Amino acid sequence: MSKKPVILGIESSCDETAVALIRENNKGEPEILSNIVSSQVDIHKEFGGVVPELAARAHIEKIDLIAKKALDESGLSLNDVDAIAATAGPGLVVCLSIGLNFGKAISASLKKPFIAVNHLEGHALSPKLNSKINYPYLLLLISGGHSQYLSVNGLGKYKRLGTTIDDAVGEAFDKTAKMLGIEFPGGPQIEILAEKGDPKKFDLPKPIINKGGCNLSFAGLKTAILRITKNIKNEKDKYDLAASFQNTIEEILYKKSKVAFEEFKNVSGDKRKKFVVAGGVAANKKIRKVLTKLCNEQNFDPIFPPINLCGDNAAMIAMVGMEKFKKNQFDNLDFPAKPRWQLDEKAVFLKGAGVKI
Ligand code: KG4
Ligand code: ZN
Repeated sequence: MSKKPVILGIESSCDETAVALIRENNKGEPEILSNIVSSQVDIHKEFGGVVPELAARAHIEKIDLIAKKALDESGLSLNDVDAIAATAGPGLVVCLSIGLNFGKAISASLKKPFIAVNHLEGHALSPKLNSKINYPYLLLLISGGHSQYLSVNGLGKYKRLGTTIDDAVGEAFDKTAKMLGIEFPGGPQIEILAEKGDPKKFDLPKPIINKGGCNLSFAGLKTAILRITKNIKNEKDKYDLAASFQNTIEEILYKKSKVAFEEFKNVSGDKRKKFVVAGGVAANKKIRKVLTKLCNEQNFDPIFPPINLCGDNAAMIAMVGMEKFKKNQFDNLDFPAKPRWQLDEKAVFLKGAGVKI
């Protein structure tokens, strides 16, 4: 039996230091051997957002420890690794360089191929870690720095259908949380508070809901929240605002995804339609529920990564590495960090992408 490829993935684009090992099993499916993520939330929360210099220092301090942990957990040694895949962008340049150079150094010393990975492609392929999905599929990528609808037509083949014209969805969650006095990162906390509130209490704006195709906008929503927070009197008001905010996001994503479905039908032809939702915000259970409902109504298959693979991790980077390895798509060791690297050349770069405030 021929040896199945083992890929070492490295992620350091923002405030998670992560290393993972994956291997293909006998059925040709990826198997996660280890997936270690060290979050820097405690370092950044007093500042209300990611501080690049502190993030970079924490990556430097942690990365070899995390790599050792990932190797120990996998039961393998570096000699078993067939290729090294590291995030090269987009993200904070001071952070990207740490993981990227670490990966290049391992590649050079082992004389094993190096693969530079686009972080967004990692999110895009993350559901492939636990389910078999053939191309093409429609992707809604919702994270702290990005919100995009993309037609994923193959490895490295992306067509953008829509994007946010201002804030990313995760950014809207984090900013709303901040206005409600919730510690960074606020997304998961908003979800918890929202369970106790009335989602219909506040009627919030849904910017460009009936225009602009499947492009998104959240800046007007943020302004409305700011106005309301000034009149918040008690905890109940806070829960109601969190619930109303989340409900508004659900309604926007429901409506805009429906528009994206129509556009995707033109791209994908007769094939069975699949809708993948990935990125940190895809961990939100209410958003999963509402988008599953839409899929059932529209005859699409809903696909979500497991909750622990929605946020930043290195298994998804190794997943891209695995697909590229099988196609002999390798990179030179002078591949630069690309803080603004987009999946398709037409994509609009968001100000503040990769910075979760
Ligand atoms: O993908 P990710 O870990 O990092 C980026 O690439 O940006 O996404 C982080 C974002 C943050 O804005 C965080 O608040 C949001 O995902 N997030 C959530 C939830 N969990 C994480 N937003 C809403 N509900 C959640 N459960
Ligand atoms: Zn991410």
